[in-house]
Amino acid sequence: MAGCGREQGGRKLIGFSQANLGEPWRVAMNAEIAEAAKAHPDLEIVYADAQQDNARQVADVENFLRQKVDLLIISPNEAKPLTPIVKRAFESGVPVIVLDREIEGDSYTTFIGADNRAIGRAAGDFVAEALGGKGNVVEIRGLPGSTPARDRSDGFREAMAAHPGIRIVHDPVANWLREEAMTQMEAALSAHESIDLVYAHNDPMAVGAWLAARAKGRDSTIRFVGIDGLPGLDGGRQAVADGKLAATFVYPTGGREALQIAVKILAGDSVPHRVTLPTEKITRPAVP
Ligand code: FRU
Repeated sequence: MAGCGREQGGRKLIGFSQANLGEPWRVAMNAEIAEAAKAHPDLEIVYADAQQDNARQVADVENFLRQKVDLLIISPNEAKPLTPIVKRAFESGVPVIVLDREIEGDSYTTFIGADNRAIGRAAGDFVAEALGGKGNVVEIRGLPGSTPARDRSDGFREAMAAHPGIRIVHDPVANWLREEAMTQMEAALSAHESIDLVYAHNDPMAVGAWLAARAKGRDSTIRFVGIDGLPGLDGGRQAVADGKLAATFVYPTGGREALQIAVKILAGDSVPHRVTLPTEKITRPAVP
């Protein structure tokens, strides 16, 4: 017997609500899900792009619920505004997989993502070593209401607490975006004559900061560290290989794992409440 979902000739419908498709990392996440779905012709996936807009993402999920999806996958733009609709979906009996960014509370089937606090700590350890325990750091933050921005900062500051010789002299918000990071870095460069390193919460912002420093002829005296480590020509791995970034930390999109867990849930198998994905430090010698 089918559950409460809409089945068509035995096919199951999955709604995937993406926070935005303006960032390469999210395009990669969608591609991973689509690729993994090829092995499951019994699944139909409908995609929605919230374009960084919380209200739009709420409407996307409402729309999926009206379509009676059998399962919801969501990568929420920000935690607080998306929590009520995710809770409503889950409590109405729709299994929910939350991907990468978290919501508040516990009303979902499975959360899949890497440990952002641990990544922040690992970045902090790298920074401390690279600076020999002394120097001025600019931290460029992601969208404040998204949990990775909070956790990547908390973990980084935990690591920094052991290194009083390192000062975070500037910590602007650039909302995960390269262009905003360029603007914020221009301000940081004007305000601080001495900057030794930039820690950005993702690679696009780290590269944006590098571009701003290069425009002022200061790129060779500052090191840049990011997170994501996407493969491909525009990805963070290449930025490390090119010497723009000193390091990046892989942040898997979890698209493949989300589809695997979805298949299990739809088959009635039990699944873990939390799946923690691994990270990896990428520095120059490690790049082929
Ligand atoms: C893309 C992105 C990634 C980052 C992740 C955090 O929207 O900004 O660069 O690692 O979201 O949720």
